Amino acid sequence: MSTLDEVRRRHASAEAGGGPERRERQHREGKLSARERIDLLLDEGSFEETGKLVRHRCRDFGMESQTIDGDGFVTGYGTVHGRLVYVFAQDFTVFGGSLSESNAQKICLLMDMALKNGAPMIGLNDSGGARIQEGVLSLAGYTDIFLRNTLASGVVPQISAIMGPCAGGAVYSPAITDFVFMVDKTSYMFVTGPDVIKTVTHEDVSKEELGGAMTHNATSGVAHFLAHDDADCCAGIRELLRFLPQNNADGVPPVVCGDPAEREDASLDTLVPPESNMPYEMKDVIRRVVDDGEFLEVHEHYAQNLVVGFARMDGRAIGVIGNNPAVLAGCLDIDSSLKGARFVRFCDAFGIPILTFEDVPGFLPGTKQEWGGIIKHGAKLLYAYAEATVPKVTVITRKAYGGAYCVMGSKHLRTDVNFAWPTAEIAVMGAEGAVNILYRREVADETARAEKIAEYRERFANPFIAAERGFVDDVIEPRQTRRRVIRALRMLENKVDTTPRKKHGNIPL
Ligand code: HXC
Repeated sequence: MSTLDEVRRRHASAEAGGGPERRERQHREGKLSARERIDLLLDEGSFEETGKLVRHRCRDFGMESQTIDGDGFVTGYGTVHGRLVYVFAQDFTVFGGSLSESNAQKICLLMDMALKNGAPMIGLNDSGGARIQEGVLSLAGYTDIFLRNTLASGVVPQISAIMGPCAGGAVYSPAITDFVFMVDKTSYMFVTGPDVIKTVTHEDVSKEELGGAMTHNATSGVAHFLAHDDADCCAGIRELLRFLPQNNADGVPPVVCGDPAEREDASLDTLVPPESNMPYEMKDVIRRVVDDGEFLEVHEHYAQNLVVGFARMDGRAIGVIGNNPAVLAGCLDIDSSLKGARFVRFCDAFGIPILTFEDVPGFLPGTKQEWGGIIKHGAKLLYAYAEATVPKVTVITRKAYGGAYCVMGSKHLRTDVNFAWPTAEIAVMGAEGAVNILYRREVADETARAEKIAEYRERFANPFIAAERGFVDDVIEPRQTRRRVIRALRMLENKVDTTPRKKHGNIPL
């Protein structure tokens, strides 16, 4: 056999993976192969494979006679929208996509390159976890990957897609990355599976219920995006990458914006209902203000009382955060604090300006919240906003009460430009709560109570006291929000701000 034939034979062996039968099974289960996924993710024809001929070195359990070139992980680089990305895809047809010493080395090399060259790292996960035949060598491989995930955090964007099983330690690499996609019905993540749970806690739970895509999107918040199938997942990652920079020293490329910066939207003037306890949808506000109404929501199914996601203003990517009065009256609670804090920190790490829309009656009361640690979790959001040095603009649409006023991008947390709509109510608490405390004795008399409530509302439920103090820069006409925010963001384009020198802060984890 000529050398060229040998090269071709080895390449073909790598491309065949675990063979047609196992690939067929993968398709039957509604899953694509590792290579098909990479093809969908990357720009056509851009994939360059690395480590294609790597083999495992295991000599136990008859493994010496079962080698497959590439060892079940397809790794390499290519482009998405013309920009460089690094990618690995686990091939479930080869030893269940399990992690060996050899394929862990392939991933580590790739991650090292992603860091040195400053480009996003994307992992397509479909794996039975540590390769059982290799024992501690595969555990070492996982840990080498965790270390690199941690070192790369905040330097290059890291995205994980869960497209099959992801069990045991295998969940921790995705957990360290910035965004986790899960494919509905074919993916799951858990540290210990249903069988172990049954033995230890006697709970009966299905795989789907325990760690399926919806569970992690809606309940645990481990996943940020829900995809319908593999193709939808790859398309979702491509879409997300449009809003991300290559690394923490690079900006997101601006796009040509056809939506006029000066565009007014008269419907914003009446969008907030006249009764202050009536709900409205904050996503309606966001879509009317940002370029072309395009809003890529992150964590759509989790803690829906806070909305976070990416959009553009004047063609430039921004991160948007909004309390959502349509859910739990927009209260802040443990889950929404965690959701917001993580998003603010991502934006800050990667130089993406933050636009906050605020309508928050306060923190959600109750023993569940207090015993669950709302104090430390709420503090995370406060900390994240305070720490962020990217351009920050806040618009108070209605309520800005109590601690929640302080937290949601207030002037005092070095937010650069703060606007309020005429409907804004900025005070320590709502009028009824305030009167109940201040006039405990008088409130027995209904008329006196109503008078005091009206007086408090008249005095404090407006934006003007804060404006007089300079805590908001202007009370604006809602219809002009887009223009005012764009002008603020343009003014802040070259903003430089710093934090005191330190190794790192100690965010209340
Ligand atoms: C080697 C594995 C494997 C593994 C699966 N396979 N997992 N080979 N190491 N970890 C192989 C199977 O032998 C089988 O080979 C093929 O992959 C497909 O597996 P099936 O069981 O037939 O598939 P399915 O029914 O879909 O079940 C998938 C599965 C199950 C749920 C993932 O295979 C499973 O439970 N695997 C073990 C999971 C696990 O406990 N991993 C260790 C986690 S601990 P053939 O030849 O038949 O196709 C861990 C520690 C990391 O990861 C710690 C880091 C800190």
